[in-house]
Amino acid sequence: MSVNELDGNSQVNLDQPLARILGIESSCDETAAAVVENGRVILSSAVASQVDLHAQFGGIFPEVASRQHILSIYPIVDQALKDAHLRLTDLDGIAVTRGPGLPGSLVVGINMAKGLAIGSGLPLLGINHLEGHLYSPWLAEDGQDLPEPPNFPLLALIVSGGHSELILMKEHLVYERLGGTLDDAAGEAFDKVARLLELGYPGGPAIQKAAEDGDPSRFDFPRAWLEDTYDFSFSGLKTAVLRTVQDLEKSRSKLPKEDLAASFQAAVVEVLYKKTIMAAEEFETSDILVAGGVSANQALRKKFKSLRKYRVHIPPLSLCTDNAAMIAGAGCFRFQAGFRDNLEMDAAPTWSLADL
Ligand code: KG4
Ligand code: ZN
Repeated sequence: MSVNELDGNSQVNLDQPLARILGIESSCDETAAAVVENGRVILSSAVASQVDLHAQFGGIFPEVASRQHILSIYPIVDQALKDAHLRLTDLDGIAVTRGPGLPGSLVVGINMAKGLAIGSGLPLLGINHLEGHLYSPWLAEDGQDLPEPPNFPLLALIVSGGHSELILMKEHLVYERLGGTLDDAAGEAFDKVARLLELGYPGGPAIQKAAEDGDPSRFDFPRAWLEDTYDFSFSGLKTAVLRTVQDLEKSRSKLPKEDLAASFQAAVVEVLYKKTIMAAEEFETSDILVAGGVSANQALRKKFKSLRKYRVHIPPLSLCTDNAAMIAGAGCFRFQAGFRDNLEMDAAPTWSLADL
């Protein structure tokens, strides 16, 4: 069944208790499992990060990632169930990231989810990783106040290591993809520039930290506006930073890393912010949602949070980068809408939200 065959929100009744869903995420370099109730309350969330493992390579090494997922997946699922004080039989379904992501990493989570589904008889739901990011602002830790749920239609900016997308979310589970990056994703640009400036890995937090002591107007880096589209391009900006660094090195000046980081960050934030507002204006949405790893960026958060004209939804820092609570959260909404997958479900490494 395609999501477009659903009558949007009418299939998702928020007054009904939806479900308790186990979520599993292994699309990239985090092995994660979580239990979420009703798409909103996190009963547990366990994440095993591989950051330290990949830092020595300055980026993600796919073969190493999948082997590490194999080591971590069972203990992480076990921990999520224990932390939630639940057994599999207390749950209603198992949601797992099907894609997009690294094929060898995705299959580890998918096979674990299939094994659990066979053993327990629970239904299996394959979730798009980006849909998971979209559902992260609905979530709250157990005992915390629930955030105001976003209103539809809403304009969503997903910015992560692999994606920079503008999405019009018309109803629960109904999306129109307005545009996306033509080259590097925003997070990828942060990671590459951080490597260039030898600031460490992952690049986003490292650039943010260096930028705190820098002058964002010192270097006037280019902004690719790509007029009349909702697409992004960050490769020209990355090249401009590279050229500036090469020129500075030729003149044997000490690299002003803080100013370079701050000026780069300002250029990325300005483009993401302005294009999102343009889309929200064109589609007359009252709500804006920002999610994905780069939504942890303080400069970006500050810019969006200063908006008065829109209700802005950004997840707490713990839910910006990859986690399984967002997969379980999206899984709850899909479960309630009647979606189910079977045991032939395969990984979908290049799965776009436009194909849902
Ligand atoms: O969503 P995510 O955890 O993984 C993907 O789905 O790709 O995003 C990871 C990306 C990395 O590129 C990382 O550098 C970036 O998010 N990131 C940040 C910050 N924290 C993480 N970028 C900018 N500022 C941050 N504070
Ligand atoms: Zn992600």
